[in-house]
Parts: sequence; C-alpha cells; structure tokens
Amino acid sequence: MEKTSELARLAEVIAQYRDTPGSLITVLQKAQGIYGYLPQDVLEHIAKELVIPTARVFGVATFYTQFRFQPVGKYFIELCKGTACHVNGADTIERTIREELGISDGETTADGLFSLKCVACLGCCSLSPVMMLNGETYGSLTPAKVRKIISEKRKEAGSNA
Ligand code: FES
Repeated sequence: MEKTSELARLAEVIAQYRDTPGSLITVLQKAQGIYGYLPQDVLEHIAKELVIPTARVFGVATFYTQFRFQPVGKYFIELCKGTACHVNGADTIERTIREELGISDGETTADGLFSLKCVACLGCCSLSPVMMLNGETYGSLTPAKVRKIISEKRKEAGSNA
C-alpha cells in the first residue's frame, strides 16, 4: 500500500461500500483492480475499515479463484483451457505464448510485462480458442494472431515507457 494515489482510490471504494451489507467481494474486486492483486496489507486494511474479522476477509478472498495474491505483469493473459477451447487448439496457443514469452502457466516475464494464467471456460466458447488480456476478450485465436497481439502490446509498453 505504498502509493498514495492507490491508497486514496481504495479509501474512496471503502467509503462507497462501507454501509452496504454483503459488499466485501465487490470491495475486494475493486481493490484488485487498483493494485493488480491483493497484497496482504491491503486485505488487513479492508478488514479493519469494514470492521470484518481479518480471517474472514482472507477466507473469502482465498475461496474465489478470481483473486490473486501475487503481483502480475502489466499484461495479464488468461488463456482458456476449457473443453471447447481445448478441442479448438488451446494447447497450440499455449505453446505459442510460451515460445513468444518464455513463460509457463502462473509465471511472469522477467521484464514484468506479461503474466500467463490458464483458466477454465471463460464463457464465450463460440469464439474458441479464447484468451483474455487485462479483461478484454480475444477469440478465434491462431498462433499468428497471438504473436501479433503480443507484439502490439510490447510496442504499446515501449511507447508508454
Ligand atoms: S471453453 Fe473456452 S470459452 Fe468456453
């Protein structure tokens, strides 16, 4: 929770949901949106502010697979390995990503740009094989398409640097 701007955004979220019962998951989602993952001190802070036992906040956060507890790269790739995507070549897509980025499932590139996570069905099987990149869906993937997406993101990161 080092950066003041992130802390200020988290404070806004907490203020917005403090009096709404059952809003813990929403607050956790928004906190993850701010930090990219859920650092331990952020979970403790949320527990304190919402007056919820810390153990319960940790319990809820670890129950849901959508929450992450390690930092991820600037570009977070979630590659679907569900049945439809598997049948339509998800393994080839995974191999392409591994070749392009040199990382496997659950890893982040040394430059901190890309992370890869293989996930279950993303709910858009008609577009299989599918991946999401920072929440945006990319469907009907081919190795060439994946290479193009990665190269575009690399360029984008370079021009923002
Ligand atoms: S199996 Fe990949 S989106 Fe459903």
